[in-house]
Amino acid sequence: MKDKIRKLEELRAEALLGGGKERIEIQHKKGKLTARERVDLLMDEGSFEELDMLVKHRAVDFGMDKQKFLGDGVITGYGTINGRLTYVYSQDFTVFGGSLAEAHAAKICKIMDLAMKNGAPVIGLNDSGGARIQEGVVSLGGYADIFYRNTLASGVIPQISAIMGPCAGGAVYSPAITDFILMVENNSYMFVTGPNVVKTVTQEEVTSEELGGTSTHSVKSGVAHFASPNGAACLETIKDLLSYIPQNCEEPAPVYPYDMRENESRSALSDIVPDNPNKPYDMQDVIDGIIDEDSFLEVHKAFAQNIKVGFGRIAGRSIGIVANQPAHLAGVLDIDSSTKGARFVRFCDAFNVPLLVLVDVPGFLPGTDQEWNGIIKNGAKLLYAFSEATVPRITVITRKAYGGAYDVMNSKHIGADLNFAWPTAEIAVMGAEGAVEIIFKKDIAKAKDPKAKLASMVKDYKETFANPYKAASRGYIDEVIKPEQTRIKLIKGFKMLENKADKLPRKKHGNIPL
Ligand code: HXC
Repeated sequence: MKDKIRKLEELRAEALLGGGKERIEIQHKKGKLTARERVDLLMDEGSFEELDMLVKHRAVDFGMDKQKFLGDGVITGYGTINGRLTYVYSQDFTVFGGSLAEAHAAKICKIMDLAMKNGAPVIGLNDSGGARIQEGVVSLGGYADIFYRNTLASGVIPQISAIMGPCAGGAVYSPAITDFILMVENNSYMFVTGPNVVKTVTQEEVTSEELGGTSTHSVKSGVAHFASPNGAACLETIKDLLSYIPQNCEEPAPVYPYDMRENESRSALSDIVPDNPNKPYDMQDVIDGIIDEDSFLEVHKAFAQNIKVGFGRIAGRSIGIVANQPAHLAGVLDIDSSTKGARFVRFCDAFNVPLLVLVDVPGFLPGTDQEWNGIIKNGAKLLYAFSEATVPRITVITRKAYGGAYDVMNSKHIGADLNFAWPTAEIAVMGAEGAVEIIFKKDIAKAKDPKAKLASMVKDYKETFANPYKAASRGYIDEVIKPEQTRIKLIKGFKMLENKADKLPRKKHGNIPL
């Protein structure tokens, strides 16, 4: 018996070493954690149960029969994160560069299947040279097995991908289908083809970082939702993110204990919107003034900054926040901000996270660039996402709600449950100057003093439309509230809506304009 136990211990010790001490040292020299160190940091201490530690590949070509590593380059298993069941896979770059082939893929698929059956999130820690070249099409098949499962799991269990090293070729499509992608600054990249292929095909000279590094994907492309300064910080963000979301689509979003204060009014909210409607202000101040202290986790922080999205808590209850940002491009809706908002709304709706929408939007961005790149179909994504969302939805209009953007930003007409407006709200087809120039063009041209006529018309228009009262008189706005009351109104509103039951018409699936 003792010998048999010793044999097991030897095998385990061998598996723990992955590709060996030398390769582990190289990994550390690159400033990267090993696959096991990552799992240890991510999971609650002592909770991780590893599966398939002794799996080996079965390839024989190119001398592979003589190179076998226990575990085949990926650590898989389950454990808890802050006490909640979570499945994880962590690619081991020290074994064949973390490359994926038959056995490696089968291990990942096994935990994905378990996660689906047991209704818990899957976290993928990616650090891989892509398809294992020696196993050819079998490697490609392994990827497709994962992509298929990612798609079936979408909207059922949360899926989170951390890119902690290379992620190239078709391998990028697994993270792309998952709900959130996190990248580590200076140590991770994602691209469909690397710099060498780019040079051959397009003659462009570009570095890996420029082509698909963290700075590219978290700022320009929006592929990455979070950028972290190092691996440990990235793993902390995953834990933080999980604290806002449920285990699966059948569960409600987490509600943490909260002791209501005697006075939940926030007087500072009244000083945020400037008197001059053309002056910007920072919507972050409004968010901070409304939600529980320090509870905002911003998603896509550096991408399409004219809209802010992220998670927060209100009296302990998880909410998703979508907010126009007047401090960036006046908060206008364009292609990137529409797709950013739409993706976030769909995540929240899929996982029962109630939505708070803060509106200060002058409209959609005009111009050939936007039209030629499809602002129509991309703007429609945001409209569609809100319209089909059945989670509790509350809107607060802080200032401008103009034109189609009024409709799109969670208006009553597309199914919002509670619509509030501050007295500073301006709800109209367009801004005063533009509107007056269109409808009174002839009167202004005929006037003795066209400038004075324009100014008086603008004043009239503002008095008539640049306020929330026309909308309130129709019931499009449920209540015009003082800014300082916003937090308490939202606490009561989300509580009132906590048992909301709403269903979409029966269908196979909708056809969101992609
Ligand atoms: C097998 C691989 C590998 C791969 C790396 N290795 N990538 N083995 N298949 N795809 C091995 C190396 O042979 C080496 O083994 C070890 O991993 C570390 O690699 P290095 O090159 O020494 O490391 P580094 O200098 O850090 O470079 C990492 C790298 C580079 C940038 C990832 O290895 C690389 O370019 N690899 C190929 C990437 C690639 O083109 N993959 C295919 C993409 S297409 P030893 O034994 O020396 O330690 C794809 C299609 C997916 O993935 C399709 C899905 C539909």
